[in-house]
Formats: sequence, structure tokens, C-alpha cells
Amino acid sequence: MNRRYSGLAALVAGLVVGATGAEPVAGPSFTAPEVRAILAHGPWPPPWQSDPSNRVSGQPASIAFGERLFNDPRLSRPGTIACASCHLPPRSFTDGLPRAHGLAATDRNTLGLANVRRQRWFGWDGANDNLWAQSLRPLLDPREMGGDLAHVAAVVRADADLRERYRESFGAPPSAADEPVAVDVAKALAAYQETLATGRTPFDEFRDALARGDDRGAARYPAPARRGLALFVGKGRCNVCHLGPDFTNGEFHDIGIPFFAGPGRVDAGRHEGVRRVRASRYNLLGPFNDDSTRQTATATRHVAAEHRNFGEFRVPSLRDVARTAPYMHNGSLATLRDVVRHYSELDEERLHADGEQILRPLRLTDAEIDDLVAFLESLSASQANSSTSRSR
Ligand code: HEC
Ligand code: HEC
Repeated sequence: MNRRYSGLAALVAGLVVGATGAEPVAGPSFTAPEVRAILAHGPWPPPWQSDPSNRVSGQPASIAFGERLFNDPRLSRPGTIACASCHLPPRSFTDGLPRAHGLAATDRNTLGLANVRRQRWFGWDGANDNLWAQSLRPLLDPREMGGDLAHVAAVVRADADLRERYRESFGAPPSAADEPVAVDVAKALAAYQETLATGRTPFDEFRDALARGDDRGAARYPAPARRGLALFVGKGRCNVCHLGPDFTNGEFHDIGIPFFAGPGRVDAGRHEGVRRVRASRYNLLGPFNDDSTRQTATATRHVAAEHRNFGEFRVPSLRDVARTAPYMHNGSLATLRDVVRHYSELDEERLHADGEQILRPLRLTDAEIDDLVAFLESLSASQANSSTSRSR
């Protein structure tokens, strides 16, 4: 234990010896730097911030309109697939499949939508720099909902309820021009998705007890989860990438998951994502960003593909992770135990030439694997105060 930080050291010692000083609490103690690392994974929930690129962000009428659209299969070309067909609320807005299947099979695992407003780059490859562009994508993708701008706009114009909700949301009825109407539909969808957030978890209770110096509160966190947490911020160095309140740095890495999407086909990940975000007409540099200062577009202006981006994917958030199996961009790992085993047995050869310096096979014991899994499970809210709870 690091005694130089006397305040923190006392706090840390409190975790080992119970509040009465008599009952030792099972589980490891944390060094002062580890305590700082743990505190950095909160507080939760984070404060609300509206999205300057979307003029209806945070507007109640648009949130309600967006929720309605999210559940409407008519937005797909054959009228059979809604956003909610793949993004199911009880699974933290994923579908339980390795790779999503809309009108046809896709190459990627469905991403959850809880806390999505906090991302900077959207999709596993960051091919969009804002939530509304990312919401337009599945409407137009032939493998997902298979429509086009004209189909999306026509659905809204043709239905009295949707037309009225559009008018309430945007101040005028849908115009005859398809593109601005379809982009507005995507902005209402974004307004709704911004309200999706995960609730408080056992980890958050522990983290806040630690911050308050409340030993009794901290002692309620089960010992296996606490040992797993010690591995997460300690020898596992998981928090180099899975950091902050969302357990992600929002960046892209290669952790040795194969990127062959099928025979003779590769998923180039971030390398292709950078090309696409730069080329997109719906990026923050384009005509549909409602932030006239374009301050929101700085990252997009400067992003450039580098060789190392090939086969890199976005670091996923770990909040609610127990509910979003299977895992990884291609859904190739079925359980959290499989994920932890992957990090334990990592094939260094597989990490390509300019691969990650951070990752080493951890060679964990079975007991350590159990602990790390217990910790990851403690990042999910109980079903009762879970993902559909509103952040505002
Ligand atoms: C066929 C299944 C399917 C349908 C239908 C679908 N999605 Fe998705 N969604 C996915 C998959 C797969 C990904 C990951 C895509 C990628 O990385 O390229 C994803 C990713 C996303 C993301 C990015 C999340 C993040 O963390 O970056 C958002 C936002 C999203 N979808 C919203 C929607 C909306 C809104 C709709 C309806 C208009 C919708 N999706 C319809 C499968 C689907
Ligand atoms: C070098 C950065 C990095 C480090 C270090 C790291 N991860 Fe990851 N993690 C990622 C990336 C990137 C992915 C997604 C990879 C993909 O899909 O190809 C991921 C995926 C995951 C997933 C799957 C989540 C999902 O929704 O699919 C879990 C769980 C996970 N990591 C836990 C851990 C644990 C536990 C550790 C420490 C043993 C760790 N990670 C260390 C970058 C990292």
C-alpha cells in the first residue's frame, strides 16, 4: 500500500479492515494509483448535454416522434423491419445474434444503444461522426432496412400521425424535398436514442462508497468482483483502453480478433471507417450540421487513415456488458468468459506488425478468470433500473 497518500491510504486500509476495525473484509486492498483509476470510472450517471449538431436534441416532441419511428417497420422497404427489430430494449438494445440479420446477413454484431449519445465516432469502425447520420445509415443499407431517402420521406408524408408529429417537431409539415425530410427523421431518431441510458450498477455503488470513504458501503461489493476489479486496473491493464465512466477511450484498437468477414473478404475496420466518415455527405463538415459554428467538426476535419488502422475496431463500452452477448465486432465470442480467456491466451503473432504494445497474454488462473467475469457482470444495472431509464 502506498503510504505517501495518507488520506487515501486510510481510505484504502478501511477496505481491508471493516468499519469496526475488527472484521477483516475479504478481497484485495488497492494502492493509491489504483484507487484513482477506480474513481475515474465514475461518477454515474453523467450530466446531460445536448447535441449542437441536432437542432431537436433534447426536445420532448422530437423524442416522442423518434421513439415512434424507432418502432415503425414501415420505414424499411418491405415494411417488415424496424430499428427495434435489431435493437431490443431488454438486451440493452442488441439482438443476441453474432452478426445482425436484416433484409440480408451483415458482417457485424449489433451495437447496443444505451449511453450512445456519449460516443464521438459511431459504429464499430467510426464511419459516422454524429448520431443522426448513424441513424440514417440502416434506413438506406440494403442489408438492413433497404430503403432510400424517397421511401423514408414518403412514409412520413403518407401517415397522418407521423406528419403531425413531424410538424410539431420541426415547425412545418414535411416538404416535397426528400433529403431534408429523411435527415430530419434521423434527427428525431437521434433525439430519442439520446435518452437511452444505463442505470446505477453495483460497481457504481462501490465506487461512490470509495469516494466517500464509506467502508461499510464499500464492503457490500462482493469479494470476487473486487478481486476482478483489482485485475482490471492492475495487471490486466484493461483500463488503458476501457477507461472513464463509459469504460472506453472512444478510440480504435486491434486486439487480435480475426477480421476475415467471409471467404476472400476482409473487414478493414477503422481504415475503411475513416475513408467513409470523410466522404460522407452527412458528416459534421457537411450541409446538415445544425451547429453553424462548426466547432463540432474539428475532429472530423483532422482525422486521417493510417496503416495501423487496418483491422482496428472501436473499444466498446462495458456498461451493461452482461446483457449484450455475443461479443466483438463480428460476434465471434459467445460469453464474457470467452472474452476474458481471449485476453488471457492472446496470440501475439496475431497482433499485426504495428499492433498493440499494451496487450500481452495475461495467463490468468481459472480463479482469476472467474473474478474478472464477476467484475464485468457488476457493470450491469439491475433489470429494474436498467437501460430504458431516461437520462433526463
Ligand atoms: C438489421 C439489424 C439492424 C437494424 C434494423 C438497425 N440496426 Fe442499428 N446497428 C446494427 C449493427 C450491426 C450495428 C453496428 C454497425 C457497424 O458497426 O457498422 C448498428 C449500430 C447502430 C448505431 C451505432 C451505435 C454506436 O455505439 O456507435 C446506432 C446509433 C444505430 N445502430 C441506430 C439504429 C437505428 C436508429 C435504426 C433504425 C433506423 C437501426 N439502428 C436499425 C444493426 C441494426
Ligand atoms: C488495447 C486496448 C484494449 C485493452 C487493453 C483491452 N481491451 Fe477490451 N476491447 C478492445 C477493443 C478494440 C474491443 C473490440 C474488438 C473487436 O471487436 O474487434 C474490445 C472488446 C472487449 C469486450 C467485448 C465487449 C463487447 O460489447 O463486444 C470486453 C468484455 C472487453 N473488451 C473486456 C476487456 C478486459 C477484461 C480487458 C483486460 C483484460 C480488456 N478488455 C483490455 C480494446 C481493449
